[in-house]
Amino acid sequence: ANKLGSKKERTLAMIKPDAVTKVGDIIQMIYDAGLIVTKAKMTKLSWKQAGDFYMEHQSKSFFNNLVQFVTSGPVVVMELMGDEAVSVWRKVLGPTDSGAARKDAPASLRARFGTDGTKNAGHGSDSLASAARELELFFPSTTGHSPSNTAQYSYC
Ligand code: PPS
Repeated sequence: ANKLGSKKERTLAMIKPDAVTKVGDIIQMIYDAGLIVTKAKMTKLSWKQAGDFYMEHQSKSFFNNLVQFVTSGPVVVMELMGDEAVSVWRKVLGPTDSGAARKDAPASLRARFGTDGTKNAGHGSDSLASAARELELFFPSTTGHSPSNTAQYSYC
């Protein structure tokens, strides 16, 4: 924590295939929330990459549906950084189901750009540990060790 008691964090944001055309509005929402984009790329996930990314959901009934959806077109993955980036980005996303989001958080990203429980526009890491794992999948460190998810980032 810095002297104001806040914690600089990094998190992984994914714009899912249904929302890649909204990347401009979404990046605006990120900056409006006080976060910055420190890495970004557009990519098309293979079935294997998507399965690895969502490995914690392998046994869930919706797993195939989820992998099918995120491999259906390009995605935009980003590293976001800022105070409490993990929870701030998930708050920007809103509830997982876009229908519920329109009811409970109408200004959220999923309310604005998602459709339902499958097509829900975006993903955010759910913890610092997940963020470290997911960032390493998309933006591997070249130093041979996984970076710790703390404040060690020089923005240049
Ligand atoms: S759980 O069981 O509470 O961990 O699941 P949940 O947090 O609700 O969702 C985890 C991710 O799975 C996606 N999901 C689905 N995708 C496709 N179809 C269905 N039916 C479905 N249900 C849940 C959900 O969007 C979450 O994706 P991410 O990318 O992690 O937000």
